[in-house]
Amino acid sequence: MAFPNTRPRRLRLHPGIRRMVRETRLSVDALIWPLFVTHGRQMRRPVPSMPGVFQLSIDELVKDARAASKLGILAVLLFGIPKKKDARASEAYAKSGIVQQAVRALKNALPDLVVITDVCLCEYMSHGHCGVVLPPLKVRGGTGGCYVDNDASLDLLAKTALSHVVAGADIVAPSDMMDGRVKAIRTAFDHGRFSHVPIMSYAVKYASAFYGPFREAAGSTPSFGDRKSYQMDSANSREALREVRLDLEEGADFVMVKPAGPYLDVIAKVRAVTQLPVVAYQVSGEYSMLKAAAARGWLEEKAIFLESLIGMKRAGADLIVTYAARELAQSLNP
Ligand code: PBG
Repeated sequence: MAFPNTRPRRLRLHPGIRRMVRETRLSVDALIWPLFVTHGRQMRRPVPSMPGVFQLSIDELVKDARAASKLGILAVLLFGIPKKKDARASEAYAKSGIVQQAVRALKNALPDLVVITDVCLCEYMSHGHCGVVLPPLKVRGGTGGCYVDNDASLDLLAKTALSHVVAGADIVAPSDMMDGRVKAIRTAFDHGRFSHVPIMSYAVKYASAFYGPFREAAGSTPSFGDRKSYQMDSANSREALREVRLDLEEGADFVMVKPAGPYLDVIAKVRAVTQLPVVAYQVSGEYSMLKAAAARGWLEEKAIFLESLIGMKRAGADLIVTYAARELAQSLNP
């Protein structure tokens, strides 16, 4: 029997050749670093379920962003923790709101840093839902699901997004999952002389148990019900393509899939139907899981993070939002 002359191993033996033939590369340019900003001064409040993540006052936020930027991080994604919450989410769109202040400070100190703002109402609503909840609270279907008034929420979301760009945000990222919000925001921008500002839509956002630690970090756990009436069912992927198509029609400039790790098939499908940049969000629970195993010495931290992120790139993501961005930046630099 003739020995086959086809040997994939020939390309694996030499470390240099191995690097040359890599199909996917992860670079620091692809990473977006999420940050939580809160009122106060010299505040770095650790988030217990997310080791290495802090709620930062604006002065500390600027310090961390500067350090990250020196390591080559191009973009941060801001989440705000307001002083007070109410039923109209008024601090979400206040000129003196925490995100608006933070954006001004960041753009002032680091004009080249790309500042992306998360646009949602859940951190600012007294009930913790991503939109306006109609009184009286209707619990439908007996499953604790609650009714969010989609169209009434659009005005507040557009107002919030507009207040972020007025403060200087470079990109807005709506994460609320109300239908039609990309169009509402696009229209508000176009009317307000901000037609140049891109929208990074959380087009495909699943109702995920992996958001648990984030809700601790952002103080946005719903006080009743869940988000299943507006976030997607993890069993669905055709629905993801429908969400993407609608967001593209409404004027999105980036489409995001979230969470990332358990949804690599969805990233690949989205990649196949759009020419726009696809963003994968490695969410809080994915981060905490890897950190927890590493802290116990069960897995090697840097290696598991890099392997998880290269998987997202391989699936088709152009950009990755990860809480580990700054920690990884150093190892990704040439
Ligand atoms: C706000 C929002 C959430 C996340 C990003 N934006 C939480 C949620 O929908 O409950 C989750 C991010 C993470 O878990 O890292 N709507």
